[in-house]
Amino acid sequence: MKTVKSLADYQSEYQTSVEQPEKFWEKIADQFLWKNRWSKVLDWNFTEPTIQWFVNGTLNITENCIDRHLSKNAHKTAFIFEPNEPSESTQNISYQTLYDEVCRLANVLKKLGVEKGDRVCIYMPMIPEAIYGMLACARIGAVHSVVFGGFSAQALKDRINDSLCKVVLTTDGAFRGNKKIPMKATVDEALIECPSVKYTLVFNRTNDTIKMQEGRDLNWKTEVQSQPDHCEPVYVDAEHPLFILYTSGSTGKPKGVLHTTGGYMVYTAYSFANVFQYQPNDIYWCTADVGWITGHSYITYAPLLNAATSVIFEGIPTYPDAGRFWQVVDKHHVTHFYTAPTAIRALEAAGLEFVKPYKLTSLKVLGSVGEPINEEAWNWYSANIGKNKCPIVDTWWQTETGGILISPLAGITPTKPGFATLPLPGIQPILVDDKGNEITGNNVEGNLCIKFPWPSIIRTTYGDHERCKQTYFSTYKGLYFTGDGCKRDENGNYRITGRVDDVINVSGHRIGTAEVESALNMHEDIVESAVIGYPHEIKGQGIYAYCISINEHINSDDLKKELIDLVNKQIGPIAKPDKIQIVRGLPKTRSGKIMRRILRKIAEGDFANLGDTSTLLDPTVINEIIEPHLKNNN
Ligand code: WT7
Repeated sequence: MKTVKSLADYQSEYQTSVEQPEKFWEKIADQFLWKNRWSKVLDWNFTEPTIQWFVNGTLNITENCIDRHLSKNAHKTAFIFEPNEPSESTQNISYQTLYDEVCRLANVLKKLGVEKGDRVCIYMPMIPEAIYGMLACARIGAVHSVVFGGFSAQALKDRINDSLCKVVLTTDGAFRGNKKIPMKATVDEALIECPSVKYTLVFNRTNDTIKMQEGRDLNWKTEVQSQPDHCEPVYVDAEHPLFILYTSGSTGKPKGVLHTTGGYMVYTAYSFANVFQYQPNDIYWCTADVGWITGHSYITYAPLLNAATSVIFEGIPTYPDAGRFWQVVDKHHVTHFYTAPTAIRALEAAGLEFVKPYKLTSLKVLGSVGEPINEEAWNWYSANIGKNKCPIVDTWWQTETGGILISPLAGITPTKPGFATLPLPGIQPILVDDKGNEITGNNVEGNLCIKFPWPSIIRTTYGDHERCKQTYFSTYKGLYFTGDGCKRDENGNYRITGRVDDVINVSGHRIGTAEVESALNMHEDIVESAVIGYPHEIKGQGIYAYCISINEHINSDDLKKELIDLVNKQIGPIAKPDKIQIVRGLPKTRSGKIMRRILRKIAEGDFANLGDTSTLLDPTVINEIIEPHLKNNN
């Protein structure tokens, strides 16, 4: 794919994309295989919202990810699988092998009765089969819903039932550092109450003993073996759903963000090529998990659409020690390395002795994603990993945006520590104040919105379009609202400052405070709770829970442990509170609204700046909440 090659190029491409967006995207879309060309590039309004790209075009995305490359690149490596255990051998998967595996698996899904539009849940660790699963769905027009392997049975059940999945793809267990994690057992527990699921397909990875339910549970390897390695692609409309991915919001249960096929393909491919400036012999490695959007867009789809070679890593950054990432970079001559600030901070804390043994000379581009990267971590990453020679692309985007919206283009546009810098061509950011008035000019700060659609924008929240409208398109009329606060510096560079809603970002994972609160409130001793985020050195934000117990002033460790277990069971380990404080009351306004601003200040230890507390129903609760903090400090 042709990419922007200079700053001047970027500027002129950006201008065209704003002045003639349809012409701009049509030219990019024309670089792919379509069964039928579109009749209209874009149809949209941000009120309903309805957004359609490449209207009436038909295609199959896997044909673009795989088949299209077979004439020239059949033997090129698509994926290098690096297992959890460094002594286990690496697996090289060529584009031809990928084709064969995806086709066989797609044939199994067909045999199980999966049809175009049906939902398939994927609950798997980071192994190539998880990616085969996604592509096999796309091959036959089925919609995948990947659920991160760290979610609990309860969370898995909720997601399966929300989109009524027919089949679940899973494994016996997962290797994670020195731990083995059960997967099938969790699926079994979830499926007790999932009437829509007819089959599970189980890939044996850890070879642990698992229960297989006759008639429902099938062995992956056995099923795949007997299938032909060819499967005709099912052509779908450009707006046919490609996948659902659940993400947390400020209220209620996680919502199923829905992405469609044509626009998602065009935007992820374009953004990958431009942000990373990937060249044909480069080796790209994104350390995300397929359970998150980064794993969908920038491990599975975009690299394949660009015929790239990428690393799939099963393990964790600290196993067998904190040098693992760098060992893998040297081992596979990785040129492009893309990770999250939380990992950078953790590895920085582990010390340079884990970096020193490695050369890291293959690296050309470093990426960051998932949360704001502090300047300190940015500088450490640049100096010690990039040896001050690799541009850092701090990529800002969201599950809902499908692809990277604001980021430097590696080696093309300038970088600035702590800044995601400039919008990609086709992206029109705007800052607004709380009333929705545009904040113009530079050196300003406001709520980040986008005023014009791009091809991979969210289309709906599965089964509840009104929620999509309310969450993203109603706060500010005619704009897509990101939920993020943002600064624009004197040169027009953007710096994302963090969420302005009740969503917290823990180690790059989005967690809705309401979800954690409702888990805590299930405890029979808890009357009410308020959860907020507080600054955490490694995780970015930690989870702080204030809970009112029926047994006044009982602050026992047993109760706290029960509460943590409860959150673990309802959501999963990623949502476990770091700190729990049992309180007698919460600071509320006379209308009953919890003043989270005050709770955040207390958790930060900033007792002197609690702000206006005069509107509180009962101002004395504040002193009671602060009291134990003062004691701890003495
Ligand atoms: C939220 C989206 C995008 C894939 C992973 C997370 C925060 C993401 C950055 C960045 C500052 C960032 C935002 C955003 N975020 N990237 N480079 N700088 N903040 O996807 O789970 O949908 O979370 O992550 O707050 O809204 P997600």
